[in-house]
Amino acid sequence: MFVSDCLSVNEQGHLTIGGADTVELAAQFGTPCYVMDEAQIRQNCRAFVRSIQEHYDGNGVANYASKAFCCKEMCRIVTGEGLGLDVVSGGEIYTALSAGVDPAKLNFHGNNKTPDELKYAVESGVGRIIVDNLYELETLSRIASACGKTADVLLRIKPGIDAHTHDFIRTGQIDSKFGLAIETGEALEGVKAALNTESICLKGYHCHIGSQIFDVDPFEHAAQVMADFIAQMKAETGYEAEELGLGGGFGIKYRSHDDPPAYEDYMARVAAALKEACAARQLALPFISIEPGRSIIGSAGLTLYTVGAVKTIPGVRTYVSIDGGMGDNPRYILYQAEYEIVNAARAGEPKTQTITLAGRCCESGDLIQENAPIQPVEAGDIVAVLSTGAYNYSMASNYNRIPRPPVVLVNDGQARVIVRRETYEDLTKNDI
Ligand code: LLP
Repeated sequence: MFVSDCLSVNEQGHLTIGGADTVELAAQFGTPCYVMDEAQIRQNCRAFVRSIQEHYDGNGVANYASKAFCCKEMCRIVTGEGLGLDVVSGGEIYTALSAGVDPAKLNFHGNNKTPDELKYAVESGVGRIIVDNLYELETLSRIASACGKTADVLLRIKPGIDAHTHDFIRTGQIDSKFGLAIETGEALEGVKAALNTESICLKGYHCHIGSQIFDVDPFEHAAQVMADFIAQMKAETGYEAEELGLGGGFGIKYRSHDDPPAYEDYMARVAAALKEACAARQLALPFISIEPGRSIIGSAGLTLYTVGAVKTIPGVRTYVSIDGGMGDNPRYILYQAEYEIVNAARAGEPKTQTITLAGRCCESGDLIQENAPIQPVEAGDIVAVLSTGAYNYSMASNYNRIPRPPVVLVNDGQARVIVRRETYEDLTKNDI
């Protein structure tokens, strides 16, 4: 019935997450409030770890893409489940290190890492730096040499695959700001440079074709293209990559009718494609990494809001305004992202109303969902927006100087705050 196994309806007809009553959570922690289910997060982590064990003899690692949702407790949970971390900024590195994560488990991405961030990564002993371009390679070489260290790197390659997803979250095609293209010869040039650059140790290649992808074909195709690339580089330079990063992007359910493939199916097919491609090209099987972000945390989370004004414009639509909006969830205004919405206290009832859920920012586009079905709803009700675990808290802003909501983690009915609600003092703490 719901988009995630961690959601249910209790005897009072209230929506529950991880066994906790969302109406009670709203009363206890206030709204707006993000709620995430720890058991679901751990279960998702285990599915990825197990899939590499089963289908690729454990010769790889899942690195959680922390951009999806990053805070200290999340870093502890996923690394406790045996995952590494994909980080994309000094801030994400700092968060992981403050949570006590082994720096060797960090994989540092980004198309324009600053020299300061590169220095921080090298000095901290970050495990892999995924080098995006030749300018970065030179900068990193200089920084590593000055620190008397060698940087272990993967080169970010564009496999030239066009995954069918939203334009803003496609990354594998030639026209992308990320990585070096194979077709144009940039990738070959990058490999030669990496092999001949001081204080750089080339460990292999990395690709990521996009996000919220439902079809396994483009992932399989990417693995084949990358195996080809390893073989081609071996022929041209003598260098055979030991490691291959295959990125993230596995789709999740936002609406009940969404039907993403199981992660086991993904790994079964991609591992088979890679093994076959490597055997055909007489290559040793590379150590692989995958980078699930959304698929670890997305459907493990929801956001609770309190309804305020309800405005029915006859013959037009009904705006139901909530105490949050684009500040805590910018995904509708950015991508017209689809979500299911539920009146938390009437979750077992049919959705007989069609409403537009409006945020509270001074911005007409500040909507969470348009013309969406929901149970009857009025001022004072608690509304839950489902599957908001990924790219909500992590993309939140303080637009209109609205404090960011807290993150509450539930486990078997018990709830605890893992990120506290921002205060007005927090909002002004950097003001001079
Ligand atoms: N690895 C790399 C190199 C990435 O760039 C990303 C996401 C991931 C892994 C994780 O992808 P995931 O498994 O979460 O799909 N803000 C957008 C999504 C941007 C994704 C950016 N990169 C959204 O809200 O849909």
